[in-house]
Amino acid sequence: MEAWVRVLLLVAFLFPAAIVEGRVRHYKFNVVMKNTTRLCSTKPIVTVNGRFPGPNLYAREDDNVLIKVVNHVKYNITIHWHGVRQLRTGWADGPAYITQCPIQPGQSYTYNFTITGQRGTLLWHAHILWLRATVHGGLVILPKRGVPYPYPKPDKEMVVILGEWWKSDTEAVINQAMQAGMAPNVSDAHTINGHPGPLSPCSSQGGGSLKLQVESGKKYMLRIINAALNEELFFKVAGHNLTVVEVDATYTKPFTIDTLLITPGQTTNVLLTADRRAGKYLITASPFMDSPIAVDNMTATATVHYSGTLSSSKTTLTNPPPQNATSVANNFINSLRSLNSKKYPAKVPLKVDHKLLFTVGLGVNPCPSCVNGSRVVAAINNVSFVMPTFALLQAHYFNKSGVFTTDFPGNPPITFNYSGNPPGTAPANMATMNGTRLYRLPYNATVQLVLQDTGIIAPENHPIHLHGFNFFQIGRGLGNFNPKNDSKKFNLVDPVERNTIGVPSGGWTAIRFIADNPGVWFLHCHLEVHTTWGLKMAFVVANGKGPNESLIPPPSDLPTC
Ligand code: C2O
Repeated sequence: MEAWVRVLLLVAFLFPAAIVEGRVRHYKFNVVMKNTTRLCSTKPIVTVNGRFPGPNLYAREDDNVLIKVVNHVKYNITIHWHGVRQLRTGWADGPAYITQCPIQPGQSYTYNFTITGQRGTLLWHAHILWLRATVHGGLVILPKRGVPYPYPKPDKEMVVILGEWWKSDTEAVINQAMQAGMAPNVSDAHTINGHPGPLSPCSSQGGGSLKLQVESGKKYMLRIINAALNEELFFKVAGHNLTVVEVDATYTKPFTIDTLLITPGQTTNVLLTADRRAGKYLITASPFMDSPIAVDNMTATATVHYSGTLSSSKTTLTNPPPQNATSVANNFINSLRSLNSKKYPAKVPLKVDHKLLFTVGLGVNPCPSCVNGSRVVAAINNVSFVMPTFALLQAHYFNKSGVFTTDFPGNPPITFNYSGNPPGTAPANMATMNGTRLYRLPYNATVQLVLQDTGIIAPENHPIHLHGFNFFQIGRGLGNFNPKNDSKKFNLVDPVERNTIGVPSGGWTAIRFIADNPGVWFLHCHLEVHTTWGLKMAFVVANGKGPNESLIPPPSDLPTC
């Protein structure tokens, strides 16, 4: 045997991981202001590399991704890689004051993480203030080289990003609302890949709306991302069914549907077969809201454009579902199942160490300077989370006291008729407690978390996002969770696996996960207005045994507060 072959074999024997590891990918994100025109008006927005939406990031499973973020704007900034598990690399997760101090104007920070055991579509977005409105993009993780998709290979793939557009400055919108103690203005339009679409005013003046160019007989995969701040959206394509194959970068049992629901923070991959006659077909993204709460009722549009279509040909239209179409939403949600194949098994925890019940909803606290003398707040288990001024992960790692406590309640402090049905049974006192309280979990603990919507002020859907983990949605129902009856109906075989889950209006959702990732992990409503109001908390997960179960040391360029 030649010497170099022997060396190679020795290396492979000593460091098996080194052989299968992916490549290193470098990206540079310059955070810059950019004048942008939408809805007939031009305003400066915060962008990455001058683009809206920002650049899509591509990587393969096992790749080491390094993104250097340079802050050229007047705001503090952080970027979150939404759904990336960040195994032992919490420093690269991104939520401001949770895992890092923000990158200050003129400063930079390199996010450094490896993608392990994940493939599919995710997103990245700013995780500070309301900058996510314009600072977001797709994150596509391809399977390892030579590993096929578990569904027919599409002829072409496209990233489709849904968003919201405000005519005014979004930071001003939320600051004003916080001063008044009232709900912020809703957006002025929804967008598909940055544009409200051909049916909206001004699009005729080179609106640049999205045209999906297709060829008859071919198969396309749309990687759909909801990057909106505050709104759950229906998505539909005239004359075409959509086959769902993946959500939140986990494979699903394929199913075919004409309308899908996607909440902020969620992603959905669908296959679309171009099986219609040549022509143009309308795509719509429209809001879903089944409680008496104001939303932006504009429908964003785009078109599927068959090659060979005459420019004079009329677009085939479709009606978006009514705004309050709960049954359309449920039809989609109830169809979701993990693929649960031999290669991609659903590893649902069967025994539970920590059984938690979190109420999620609104509240009202006194505020002498506010318009009504009170302000609308939001809370989990009646705690409105107070943002620290020092990053929680650093405080945890360096044992710095006085930044947080670990007494977050595992159950609601008082028992009441949570979902508030019949109305009038909610507690008269709607005030919440303030605190930077965390819930402590030992390494590898299994957790069952029931998220229960409250009817305080109004019941409402809450897309809850957990950082650092995927979880299984083992159950979902209306009214109050009943441990005895509802637990019997849990799906522990092939429940959908996600990182962001809708808690139905006036109902509950049960999830399970394994705390196999040491660090501090944010849990919050992905409606930005609710996060701002305090609907957030964090888990602190202890290290396990040895370096492979421990948080890595902080990188040297980690920003300071
Ligand atoms: Cu996509 Cu903590 O968020």
